[in-house]
Amino acid sequence: MGVGIIGIGTVVPPRVLTNYDLEKMVDTSDEWITIRTGIKERHIADSNVNPSDLGAEAALRALKMAKVEPEEVDLIIVTSASLEMIFPSMAAVIQNKIGAKNAGGFDLLSACTGFVSSLITGAQFIRSGDVRTVLVIGTEVLSRFVDWEDRNTCVLFGDGAGAVVLREVGDGYGLISWDLKLDGSGADLLAIPGGCAKNPCSEEVLKNKLHYIKMNGREVFKFSVRVLGETTEESLKKAGLTPADLDWLIPHQANIRIIEAGAERLGIPIDKVAINIHKYGNTSTASIPLALEELVLEGKIKDGDVLALVGFGAGLSWGSAVLRWKNIES
Ligand code: ACO
Repeated sequence: MGVGIIGIGTVVPPRVLTNYDLEKMVDTSDEWITIRTGIKERHIADSNVNPSDLGAEAALRALKMAKVEPEEVDLIIVTSASLEMIFPSMAAVIQNKIGAKNAGGFDLLSACTGFVSSLITGAQFIRSGDVRTVLVIGTEVLSRFVDWEDRNTCVLFGDGAGAVVLREVGDGYGLISWDLKLDGSGADLLAIPGGCAKNPCSEEVLKNKLHYIKMNGREVFKFSVRVLGETTEESLKKAGLTPADLDWLIPHQANIRIIEAGAERLGIPIDKVAINIHKYGNTSTASIPLALEELVLEGKIKDGDVLALVGFGAGLSWGSAVLRWKNIES
């Protein structure tokens, strides 16, 4: 059974934080951030806006495009690297906000790989025949987990959300193949170490800023370049395809240099790669839908195009999903 995307919606908070704004906050420059990351600006949520607010808005937009009522949703999968609370799940909070009164659901956590993992999971539920409509939401208010005094990390991240509605789309369309991998030996390379069971909230945690993102940028960079190519090739191989068959590479937007190096390794020309990191920074689980929606709204993706959605991040975790695109009827 072909299972694919029948609606997509995204949202970013209106407040923009530019590289020039950051120059006033830490010892950095627009030039350094632009050259090293490709980021020019990012959106930051106001203090009264939570990840579930952005996620609910993105979900309603996706449902509208899909012409699906909230009551028709069977399953909600929410993925995030900036949890609202440990429990209840954000799936439950968003279920209530959007009035999806017949839905079950859960949160699926896999840092920046979360959107790809959740899309694959949602598609399997539909393939099993047990459910008809799945809502997948990636939503982030990462700005709450950023140490705004740490120039190594605070220039990278932004807030936003993206959602897709999944349903049967016809034979030959939708999710064709996928690949998901973990390497927990790299768990310390990128983490929010404090505030949960291992390092519960304490004065020590706050003093050492363990409730903020800690990252070994160089190692994460090398890992990301390597796995972006590897997982894309693995998924394509499972589908009997090669990188030359790809119409669009839609990678997690972490750093323009990671994206360019990954595409080069695959031999994919840069005009076939979705790039919008300059506007949003790294929005973790929201970055792939934010990049995909832009291509869809600009009419750049044609019926039958082959897409590879590629995620990578903390865990370490990485993965890809290859889809044959079915045009969304307007
Ligand atoms: N402004 C100016 N200088 C800076 C800044 C900044 N914002 N940040 C770091 N520097 C300095 C460093 O201190 C260092 O100075 P030093 O040589 O005197 O020590 C110098 O710039 C070079 O630092 P590097 O770390 O080597 O810089 P690099 O070219 O590797 O770029 C970066 C750093 C952008 C963080 C890069 O390593 C990267 O993008 N890594 C991947 C990060 C990532 O994508 N993380 C998210 C993964 S997804 C998820 O799961 C959340």
